[in-house]
Amino acid sequence: MPPHTACDLAPLHTLGLHAQARHLVHFTDNQQLEALLAEAERPLRVLGSGSNLVPGEMVDGTVIRVELTGRTLLGEDEDAWYVAAAAGESWHEFVQWTLAQGWPGLENLSLIPGTVGAAPIQNIGAYGVELKDRFHGLAALNLEDGSTCLFTPDHCDFGYRDSIFKQGQAGRWLITEVLFRLPKQWEARLDYGDLRSRLEGREITPQAVAEAVVAMRQSKLPDPAVIGNAGSFFHNPVVSSEQAADLRQRFPDLVAYPQPDGRVKLAAGWLIEQVGWKGRQLGPVGMYEKQALVMVNHGGASAADVKALMQAVQADVMARFGVPLSPEPIWW
Ligand code: EPU
Repeated sequence: MPPHTACDLAPLHTLGLHAQARHLVHFTDNQQLEALLAEAERPLRVLGSGSNLVPGEMVDGTVIRVELTGRTLLGEDEDAWYVAAAAGESWHEFVQWTLAQGWPGLENLSLIPGTVGAAPIQNIGAYGVELKDRFHGLAALNLEDGSTCLFTPDHCDFGYRDSIFKQGQAGRWLITEVLFRLPKQWEARLDYGDLRSRLEGREITPQAVAEAVVAMRQSKLPDPAVIGNAGSFFHNPVVSSEQAADLRQRFPDLVAYPQPDGRVKLAAGWLIEQVGWKGRQLGPVGMYEKQALVMVNHGGASAADVKALMQAVQADVMARFGVPLSPEPIWW
């Protein structure tokens, strides 16, 4: 399995930037690991479907594209179904499959781009549910010594768009399989935004919730197949209650959500819109006209363009609100 040389990364990530990988390996079988560790040029970089990635123009080392497939019911008890999916499965197709089998719980996470294996890395979340709420465990290969490790939820240190796979252990693991616990006692989670009102007059079923979520996403978020993007480009910043109170005095319309720990999460999309970046371009990239938190590639962009716009937006938000914005995607 010799790595291919200088491979185009543009179709392998959703921002559609000009980018090449020095080496690319299609990882379809765990048995490939031994040869990879023996032969591949370092650093090793794990790629799913590239939906949260800003690749540079020439990515060094070896990109390992995870293409492991398979999904199955591991078992069930009185309280839950236990489902496993290989890392290379499409996230949305996996969610749809669980719903079709009659195992609800992931419906609020419908239509999130990306693969199953990437989902735990930034603890994907949408419309009031995060991956960690349904996570049971995962299997991963250690890219330093080739061993296999099973992670329980406690091992993963999940936070808002965060886990050990993004922090201390970044780059060390290739996630091969993710396990989910889907409770049999189903409760619709409808408290986010206008999800509940969208379902008015309809019978509330997991499928109906999934359809409402898909419709909401489609109305606000650009389809990467049509216009390059990596979803939300910044985290929603979390500030102290004192800073939030001060901001609310100066900006009565501030969009803010109190957190269980007393701090306050601000809507980055609102901050960006206030400083005038919604629908505005800098070179070939811009902040999306319907959702200011999403950076879009209007065509022909590279990582340098992304960085220039990122810094311009960060500087304007900092100057007006004194709030730092940190980027959500991973940079290579
Ligand atoms: N808003 C504006 N202007 C904008 C965009 C948003 O004023 O241009 C304000 C509105 O008040 C809106 C609020 O911000 O009600 C929140 O916006 P939205 O519901 O679109 O959610 P978000 O906070 O911008 C987060 C996630 C999304 C996820 C949605 C729904 C992050 C970084 N993003 O976005 O996740 O789909 O909530 O749960 O937490 C992603 O991570 O890639 C992603 C798309």
